[in-house]
Amino acid sequence: MRILVTGGAGFLGSHLCERLLNDGNEVICIDNLFTGQKANVAHLRENPNFEFVRHDIIDPFKYEVDQIYNLACPASPPHYQYNPIKTIKTSVQGAINCLGLAKRVKARVFQASTSEVYGDPIVHPQPESYWGNVNPIGRRSCYDEGKRCAETLFFDYHREHNLDIRVIRIFNTYGPRMHPNDGRVVSNFIVQALKGEDLTIYGDGTQTRSFCYVDDLIEGFVRFMAQTEIVGPMNLGNPGEFTMLQLAELTLKLVGGKSQIVHRPLPADDPRQRRPDITLAKRVLNWEPQVPLEEGLKRAITYFRTKV
Ligand SMILES: NC(=O)c1ccc[n+]([C@@H]2O[C@H](COP(=O)([O-])OP(=O)(O)OC[C@H]3O[C@@H](n4cnc5c(N)ncnc54)[C@H](O)[C@@H]3O)[C@@H](O)[C@H]2O)c1
Repeated sequence: MRILVTGGAGFLGSHLCERLLNDGNEVICIDNLFTGQKANVAHLRENPNFEFVRHDIIDPFKYEVDQIYNLACPASPPHYQYNPIKTIKTSVQGAINCLGLAKRVKARVFQASTSEVYGDPIVHPQPESYWGNVNPIGRRSCYDEGKRCAETLFFDYHREHNLDIRVIRIFNTYGPRMHPNDGRVVSNFIVQALKGEDLTIYGDGTQTRSFCYVDDLIEGFVRFMAQTEIVGPMNLGNPGEFTMLQLAELTLKLVGGKSQIVHRPLPADDPRQRRPDITLAKRVLNWEPQVPLEEGLKRAITYFRTKV
């Protein structure tokens, strides 16, 4: 197949491009390189089935493709809050452009949505049927509400134009090629530990998150795109739940060194807990994460050692 990946030079996008090429597809990767880097796909550029296009998905694009994966959007709070209006435009106008193209060329189209659509959840763990608890006017809203609106657009195109959509809600994912300065907790802790700096925990460190290793997530993407039973939304993530203190301690154990743990005030709208209910993915995709946190962290640390 010929497959378009938006945001293909980012963390998840670059792993997805690699996987799709390995499966024998042609891949067109479009990216404006806001948070992505050419280096993430440098190893793919010799492959005749790979094409990189520098383009902003806010502006229309046309390619004859069989499938579209829409991943373009800054994903970490400092990046998506840097220009919040642009973030909403990327989510909303970018989704409209992907959907318009999918309609025109009759492609199956995938949306990388997020657990952030659940906001600060009152239901725990979060099943897909939960509508969420999102602040519409806060600092995180440009991302959360943009992604919610993109989901609405996907389902309206599905209902109105019978478009073949797939919507995945991704929970925290980590691994090699994460941006070292993107402020996400796994990369933050690893980079701080490798530099011998203190590890910063926001709040008392009892808030929990779940962490999925990138290879597990990409396997879920591909299985979800291949099946025809449901269009989503479907949660993908690792249901193992860890406190920030546990993550910091494990990172320190694996990296070694003399870093200490220090506490800083909790940012606004920081969710207390987040854990996917993956019952649906288990049933439909026969999928569940395979890489334990300690193993995944070791692989990520190996990557970051070459960068820091
Ligand atoms: N990594 C996670 O834990 C996670 C969790 C939930 C959802 N997601 C979603 O998955 C997708 C990929 O996330 P990631 O972690 O790889 O982040 P990332 O920042 O590494 O990748 C996003 C990519 O999109 C590109 N991009 C941003 N705006 C663009 C625009 N207007 N036009 C073209 N390209 C643009 C960036 O340059 C970057 O390469 C995002 O949509 C994100 O919201 C990721």
